[in-house]
Amino acid sequence: MNLLAKSNSILSGEVLCPGDKSISQRIVIIGSLINEDLSIKGFLNGEDPISTAMALNAIGSSINISGTDVEILKRDMPFISPETDIDLGNSGTGIRLLMGLISSLDINATLVGDESLSKRPMLRVANPLNEMGAKVVCNNGTPPVKIEKGDIKDNFLYDMPVASAQVKSSIILSALAANKKVTVIEEHPTRNHTERMINYFGGNIEHTKKDSGNIITLHKPKLTSRPSYEVVGDFSSAAFLIVAGVIAKESNILIKNVGLNPTRCGLIKVLQSMGANIEILNQSMICNEEVGDISVQSSKLKGIDVGGDIIPNIIDEIPILSIAASFAEGITTIKDAEELRVKESDRLAAISGGLSQIGIKHELFDDGIKIQGKSDNISACAEIDSFGDHRIAMSFLVASLRSEKGIFVKNCKNIFTSFPSFLETMNHLGIHVNEA
Ligand code: S3P
Repeated sequence: MNLLAKSNSILSGEVLCPGDKSISQRIVIIGSLINEDLSIKGFLNGEDPISTAMALNAIGSSINISGTDVEILKRDMPFISPETDIDLGNSGTGIRLLMGLISSLDINATLVGDESLSKRPMLRVANPLNEMGAKVVCNNGTPPVKIEKGDIKDNFLYDMPVASAQVKSSIILSALAANKKVTVIEEHPTRNHTERMINYFGGNIEHTKKDSGNIITLHKPKLTSRPSYEVVGDFSSAAFLIVAGVIAKESNILIKNVGLNPTRCGLIKVLQSMGANIEILNQSMICNEEVGDISVQSSKLKGIDVGGDIIPNIIDEIPILSIAASFAEGITTIKDAEELRVKESDRLAAISGGLSQIGIKHELFDDGIKIQGKSDNISACAEIDSFGDHRIAMSFLVASLRSEKGIFVKNCKNIFTSFPSFLETMNHLGIHVNEA
């Protein structure tokens, strides 16, 4: 699917933020493990959470999805080995978190994915799980991932060499399913939805600060059920709308129900230090997660240096931050972001390719990018390759706000993995995005 985005750079209106992808995937996993009836509201009805839920059904869960409402029904039977390979599509979170869960379930399963997922590194999860007693075999470090019945150790301690919430969550979920104690050390803080959810369901999970990172210990007691769970909106999806509001010539938009977990919303601080007019309203807590509405107005941005501990916090937002930087006065330098090389695409290369197409001067590093902002608009109708990466596609469609002739982006179908209502939302605010 190729898309063409055009606008007169005037944005206005109120939109509801779609459900959080990370939380939607975690709640179907943890809900299946608790194995009591659970009703979920605000679920992200996107391809990634759906493939995770279908994978769980293939091992015996009973998850019914109806739009953004999900019911998990109590099973009488234990988990079962699936009859065929389980396909996680494009979802890195799905495959890595399920590697942790399945490795403790006394079943055998093979997990596969699409072309992009089949190239992504899985040893970062398989190695610690195997050290922990699991039996996980990858194919040259990538999917297919074959999991057999293992014997998970008690009191396992793991010091993560990469800042990854997926690695951390996979280890914690494995220990949770095996009813074992585990400690994970993260040198740099990463998103903590798994810990928050375990805590919400009465689990005993301790968190202490260590230098700039954290020591997380899951103690043995099992989780207790609750009748319902509400998923807050996805900050990473809101990020596209926030930057759209900031770079538009004239804008006044309100994004409602945005998840504001402090391990996720670092982009607000970064954009505010660049001069963005962003205000947070109506803050509250829903199911142990911060949430609020975000009001955005067009802003005059200046370049900034970004690196260090904030990077894991803004890791999924760097493509759209690069678009904000492209229309800021001066230079923005992003460093310490080598993890972007192993996302749904090599995101640093994809950003660089797209910026060249829209005429933004930049320099690419192994771990980041330096962008020379430009205050005037893009004149040509650029053609961008998204490399099948949802966040690259949405970032360059948003850049059309500063292009006189619009922007054409190839291979956009994976937008449906994380933001299925992206086209309607953009059209509602005033950016016309259509198939081309
Ligand atoms: C996620 C963690 C991050 C993020 C991904 C979702 C999660 O990946 O990029 O989109 O849900 O835990 P890493 O753990 O690889 O940093």
